[in-house]
Amino acid sequence: EDESGAARFQALLDREEKIEPRDWMPDRYRKLLVRQISQHAHSEVVGMLPEGNWLTRAPTLKRKAVLLAKIQDEAGHALYLYSACETLGTSREETIEALLDGRAKYSSIFNYPVPTWADVGAIGWLVDGAAIVNQVMLCRCSYGPYARAMERICKEESFHQRQGYEIMIKLAQGTPAQKKLAQDALNRWWWPSLMMFGPHDSESTHGNQSTEWKIKRRSNDDLRQHFIDMTVPQAEFLGLTVPDPDLKWNEDRGHYDFGPINWDEFKAVLKGGGPVGRERMAARRAAHDDGAWVREAAIAHAEKRKARQHA
Ligand code: 3HC
Repeated sequence: EDESGAARFQALLDREEKIEPRDWMPDRYRKLLVRQISQHAHSEVVGMLPEGNWLTRAPTLKRKAVLLAKIQDEAGHALYLYSACETLGTSREETIEALLDGRAKYSSIFNYPVPTWADVGAIGWLVDGAAIVNQVMLCRCSYGPYARAMERICKEESFHQRQGYEIMIKLAQGTPAQKKLAQDALNRWWWPSLMMFGPHDSESTHGNQSTEWKIKRRSNDDLRQHFIDMTVPQAEFLGLTVPDPDLKWNEDRGHYDFGPINWDEFKAVLKGGGPVGRERMAARRAAHDDGAWVREAAIAHAEKRKARQHA
């Protein structure tokens, strides 16, 4: 990893060229991407768990079918992202192991409980909404396979956001009890959704390096502000109140001012705090162990096929 290699690499990036798997890249660029892409994939997988619990409880067949389609999409997103990770030289087993033994993170948002059907709506509206804001930016990421995975994922994610918002419209325009369900869900998911964008830029470990290498194209705070500016009018359309007394449109800034984020909660949830974090990982380990026979059968079948082809 010599000076000239790094300089040539940076010049490529500054010319907005994409880095492909066979290109030379600094080890730290590779490591930063493996970290981010694997945690992104883990988030897609763990995100399916709370939604799976609501499949059998969906209020209508249509909602059940839509939720099933969304969950299948998430599984597909995880596969694109695990595959993008493998182009950087990691094995699938290694990456999955890092999740199961707690070394790798997944988005803190999935450590929150999903107590009512309105939460399923709020997740689609806010969590997938925030994910879209972040993922549209990642379509311009300098690493080719990651950027291309994002193109496909963003198309499906916008359906996730719309179906969630439609659930919220139904509830907000329903009976007073339904509208209260929607308001309570907004109260639970508003602040955790803001935390999805990561710590403030001043606290961001990777922000500067990630920006210099054109992985991150907009900062955590910039994307968070964009999400707030876009989402507050949607809450107003629903006739719901955003649970932030400091939220106020600032004409001079052309953005909403908003209150302080509870970073202690963020850190506690990141440490897998609270019963839900442990429950999510237990469910993942159980699914992994229960699924071992499928992996073994698929490998045996592939080996038999290979043997037949060479016979
Ligand atoms: N949850 C968990 N960890 C988080 C986090 C969050 N909401 N926000 C930040 N972190 C972690 C970072 O991973 C980093 O820890 P690490 O060094 O151990 O990886 C640390 O906090 C410091 O944060 P940084 O700002 O320095 O980290 P990044 O530069 O990586 O920025 C990020 C954080 C914006 C989340 C970035 O990693 C990113 O863009 N990741 C890809 C997007 C992603 O993972 N989205 C998950 C959303 S859920 C989803 O997509 C499923 C959808 O279907 C709903």
